[in-house]
Amino acid sequence: MYKQLIRPILFRFSAERAHNMTLKLLRFARRIPLCANMAKLIFRRKSQSLQIEVFGIKFPNPVGLAAGIDKNGETYNELAWFGFSFIEIGSLTPEPQPGNPKPRLFRLPQDKALINRMGINNKGINYAIDHIMKDKPKVILCASIAKNSTSASDEDIVNDYKRAFSRMYDFVDMFTVNVSCPNVEGLQNLQDVSYLSDVIDPLLDLRICYDKYKPLLVKVSPDIPREELDEILNYCMLSGVDGIVAGNTTTSREGLVTNQARVEKIGKGGLSGAPLFERSLELVKYIHQYTNGRLPIVGVGGIMGPEQAKLMMDAGASLIELCTGFIYEGPSAVKKILKHLR
Ligand SMILES: Cc1cc2nc3c(=O)[nH]c(=O)nc-3n(C[C@H](O)[C@H](O)[C@H](O)COP(=O)(O)O)c2cc1C
Repeated sequence: MYKQLIRPILFRFSAERAHNMTLKLLRFARRIPLCANMAKLIFRRKSQSLQIEVFGIKFPNPVGLAAGIDKNGETYNELAWFGFSFIEIGSLTPEPQPGNPKPRLFRLPQDKALINRMGINNKGINYAIDHIMKDKPKVILCASIAKNSTSASDEDIVNDYKRAFSRMYDFVDMFTVNVSCPNVEGLQNLQDVSYLSDVIDPLLDLRICYDKYKPLLVKVSPDIPREELDEILNYCMLSGVDGIVAGNTTTSREGLVTNQARVEKIGKGGLSGAPLFERSLELVKYIHQYTNGRLPIVGVGGIMGPEQAKLMMDAGASLIELCTGFIYEGPSAVKKILKHLR
C-alpha cells in the first residue's frame, strides 16, 4: 500500500515538505485511539533471537533509524512504531540553526537515492530536551551532536560539542559525534585526528563525572582517505570511544542512472540511498578488519532491504541504520529486514 498509494502522493510534494508533513501526521496519528497499537501490531516484529547487546546496551533488534529523519527529537516514539530498536535524533547543535537555503533536499527516484545539503537545520538541544521531558522515550535514544555552523574557532567548536554532550547526557542512552556531514563548511576537517581528539577527549573526560555510562560513537564519512581513517580508528581504540557509525552521505556521484544534467543542476550535497551501498559496505568491511572487530560498528548507507542488511552485518556491523531506505521502502522496511535476519 505504501509504494502504490502513499509514496506516490508524498512524492508529489517537494522532498522536504513531504518529510515534514509525514512527521506531523505521525504525531497527529498518536492522538487517534488505537492508532499506535495498530501500527505496532502491523509493523513490529519481536523475537528473542534478534536481541543483541552492544556497548553494554541491550537492543531488541539490530535495526535503528539514522540521523536526519527526527532532526529535532520530537517524533522518536512514533517512528519506533515501525520496528526500529533505536532512533538517532539530530544532528542537534547547542543553538537552533536554520540550515542552508531551500531547496536543499532532492529525490533521484530512478536511483532510489537522495541528495541533501540540509546543513544540519535543527531547533537546538533545548528544544529536544523539552520534548524528551514531556514525552518519555519508549525506545533507545541516541543523540547525534554537532557544532553550530557559526562556530569557527577551535575553542568554540570544542565548546559546542561539550555543551551538547553535557546538556543531553541525562536524556538519551548514547551519543554519536557527527564530524562527517559534507554540508557544513569545515565540519569534515574535524575528522583529522588532531582535531578529532580535541573534540572527543573533553567529552570522554566529562563522561567520567556521570554515574551512568553512555556509549559515545564517532560518525565517519565514506569518502575519507584510508590513511586518515586508520588514524581515527587507532585513536578510537586507544581513547575509549565505544564504536563507529559508518558512515555518512558521499559527495561522489558515481554509478547514478539519473540524467547527468539533472544531477549537475541539483549541485552540491551528500548522496544517500542505493548508490551509496557498496561504498558503505567497503567502509564497514575495512573498519572491521582493521580493528579486528574490537570497535563495534553501526553500518549505515544504502540499506534498502534485507539483502543489504544481511551483507552489512556479515561485513562486521553489530547494528545497522536506515534513512533513505525507510523513505523509499516505507513503514514495513524494518519488519522485512528482521524477518530475513532472524
Ligand atoms: C535528509 C537527510 C538528512 C540527514 N541529516 C543528517 C544529520 O543531521 N546528521 C547525520 O549524522 N547524518 C545525517 N544524514 C545522513 C544519514 O544519517 C545517513 O548516514 C546517510 O543518509 C546514509 O544512509 P542512507 O543511505 O540509509 O540514507 C542525513 C541524511 C539525509 C538523507
